[in-house]
Amino acid sequence: SQKIYILAIESSCDDTSAAVLCNDVVLSNVVASQKIHELYGGVVPELASRAHQQNIVPVIDQALKQAKVKKEDLQAIAFTRGPGLMGSLLVGTSFAKSLALALDIPLIDVNHMQAHILAHFIKEQEYPVPEFPFLALTISGGHTQIVKVTDYFDMEVIGETIDDAVGEAFDKSAKILGLPYPGGPLIDKYAQHGDPKAFPFPKPKVKELNFSFSGLKTAILYFIQKEVDQNPSFIEEHLHDICASIQYTIVNILVDKLKKAVKHTGIKSIAIGGGVSANSAIRKALKEGEQKYGWQTFIPKFEYTTDNAAMIGIVGYLKYLQQDFSDISIVAKARIKI
Ligand code: KG4
Ligand code: ZN
Repeated sequence: SQKIYILAIESSCDDTSAAVLCNDVVLSNVVASQKIHELYGGVVPELASRAHQQNIVPVIDQALKQAKVKKEDLQAIAFTRGPGLMGSLLVGTSFAKSLALALDIPLIDVNHMQAHILAHFIKEQEYPVPEFPFLALTISGGHTQIVKVTDYFDMEVIGETIDDAVGEAFDKSAKILGLPYPGGPLIDKYAQHGDPKAFPFPKPKVKELNFSFSGLKTAILYFIQKEVDQNPSFIEEHLHDICASIQYTIVNILVDKLKKAVKHTGIKSIAIGGGVSANSAIRKALKEGEQKYGWQTFIPKFEYTTDNAAMIGIVGYLKYLQQDFSDISIVAKARIKI
């Protein structure tokens, strides 16, 4: 069968990434993360786009080198068109367009949110690919969605956050505790040795399959302020229990909505994506769902859950098969539906 080599570029937020795929197999997946934002406790858009400009050429060079593929062997260039930060998207988009022009090969625009979901179709993962239809839960610092996936390019958002993303809920809670950015992985780490029921936090009442996390953040802030007023070392003394309680509340919110989504759609296959899928409590809860509710769950390799170009490449390949190419006049789009 034919071998299609695709170079994929992802630059929607604060990671510059390039990948080379041969059909649905990933040959390389290079990610340059931007450390600079740690100093500011969050992603600074202007700094992100400047860092993309510095990183993009070396990252692409490295991806080609690792894959042992020459530019001349590429059949298409896939890139993230959106959603994301405009300045960041522009770097990847302009680069992809000029490279496709220079090499005289097709250009393929990719929707970042579709890519988080279609990452499950990258070959060589430890488990089988999900069968249609399935539910996708995309959870990261920028997104929180439940998507009904009927086919590769037939997706419907059936629930989403009305304020903060779940990763933000983790990061903002961590900030209240004085932990460095991004604090999500640290909450996960400290929670391992804590009591998840030590401090009950309220669960938001949000309609249907939607999420809300800003109330939780405020509840945590007031709770911590009140406790620290009485005992200045409250956070240090109870860090593990606080983190376990925060994590328990967030995971409960996600699982409740998943249960609702399964009931509503009758679909029991659940695939997760986005950086927060690394969270150990979420992974555990999904596995428990298999026993308790008869779910079938799909959790990708860590490198394909956080922002990466391999997931852009698999969408590029699926679109290539349909000869679904973009016009060279295409522009980046900060807000774009799935
Ligand atoms: O997908 P990602 O790398 O970037 C985007 O936001 O698109 O996701 C990053 C988010 C951050 O909010 C980070 O704190 C969170 O994922 N995260 C975690 C864990 N690992 C990463 N949150 C909770 N537990 C983790 N183990
Ligand atoms: Zn993402």
